Amino acid sequence: MGGPEARAVSLLLTTPKAFVRRHLLDRLPGAQPRNPLQGKRILVTGASSGIGEATALLCAERGATVLLVARRADALERVRDEIAAFGGTAYAHPCDLTDGDAVDALVRDVVDRHGGVDMLVNNAGRSIRRSIRLSYDRMHDVERTMAVNFFGPVRLLLGLLPGMAERGDGHVVNVLTWGVQVKAPKFSAYIASKTALDTWSRIAGRELYADGVTFTNVRMALVRTDMIGPTEAYAKLPALSPEQAGARIVRALEDRPLTVNVLAGSLGEVFNLVAPRLSDAVFSAVDRRFPDSAAARAHAEESGSPARGRRVAG
Ligand SMILES: NC(=O)c1ccc[n+]([C@@H]2O[C@H](COP(=O)([O-])OP(=O)(O)OC[C@H]3O[C@@H](n4cnc5c(N)ncnc54)[C@H](OP(=O)(O)O)[C@@H]3O)[C@@H](O)[C@H]2O)c1
Repeated sequence: MGGPEARAVSLLLTTPKAFVRRHLLDRLPGAQPRNPLQGKRILVTGASSGIGEATALLCAERGATVLLVARRADALERVRDEIAAFGGTAYAHPCDLTDGDAVDALVRDVVDRHGGVDMLVNNAGRSIRRSIRLSYDRMHDVERTMAVNFFGPVRLLLGLLPGMAERGDGHVVNVLTWGVQVKAPKFSAYIASKTALDTWSRIAGRELYADGVTFTNVRMALVRTDMIGPTEAYAKLPALSPEQAGARIVRALEDRPLTVNVLAGSLGEVFNLVAPRLSDAVFSAVDRRFPDSAAARAHAEESGSPARGRRVAG
């Protein structure tokens, strides 16, 4: 047995082997722990702040060459300089992922300058927490979450996957949300866009399995970053630090599991599966208990919701 068949069998064992190595072999006296990220070219989107910035720093600390992508060039240069200061290697590639031509140009630039990437972290994103009652006049909420959370990453993947498949090796980590499993009220636009990437990648992982390209969908818990700032309801809830979230992404790059879940998300998924109507009733009560934030209400008032027919950018 050789070629794609051998690779397929070997991929089957990738995550279990990583588990045994991490928890057993690397702990034996005299063991030399392996560093699977050493020398890898890793492109991290949304690397200008929060989880993406923390992930980029951790990858560079492990000896990877990190390609930093986001819109704010100055912030990317700050992260690049921070990495260079400890002897790491990083390059800033400013790009607006909602601009299709810019994404195509990014792919060309990355292939020309670096010969492609070995790993990709689709982390850039935007979240909107707003109830549907306040969104009747806000189709653009759906469009802009899809633009950055789904269309941008897929366009980037379509550009970078051929190189990975040709080399017979590649890994993609998508930074999603546990909301994909729970289906939390007020996040319809956001969670739908993250679910789209979750599903697209799961299918891509099946089609590209024989080419040695794997995907991890990280259904991330709450993380204390700028993104959750406007939501008062989150102020007192427990949240990971960006560094803790970044460590989970690095672990996913190293071990290549299919998904990374949090227990609450998995319990929510089971609840949705075994008692869907009861689950709706419970989430309806939760929905009423936690109203829209002042920011969400203010933006909706600006755009004229719930009246129909008027469309104002917001
Ligand atoms: N914070 C949480 O509780 C939480 C939980 C689950 C999942 N997540 C996910 O984690 C990811 C990172 O979020 P974060 O919490 O670290 O928030 P953040 O600090 O606001 O980071 C968002 C990143 O996305 C980039 N970005 C936004 N729009 C972009 C565009 N059009 N083109 C390119 N880059 C763009 C931003 O950079 P520029 O502004 O410079 O473009 C920024 O680097 C997101 O996908 C989010 O959905 C967050």
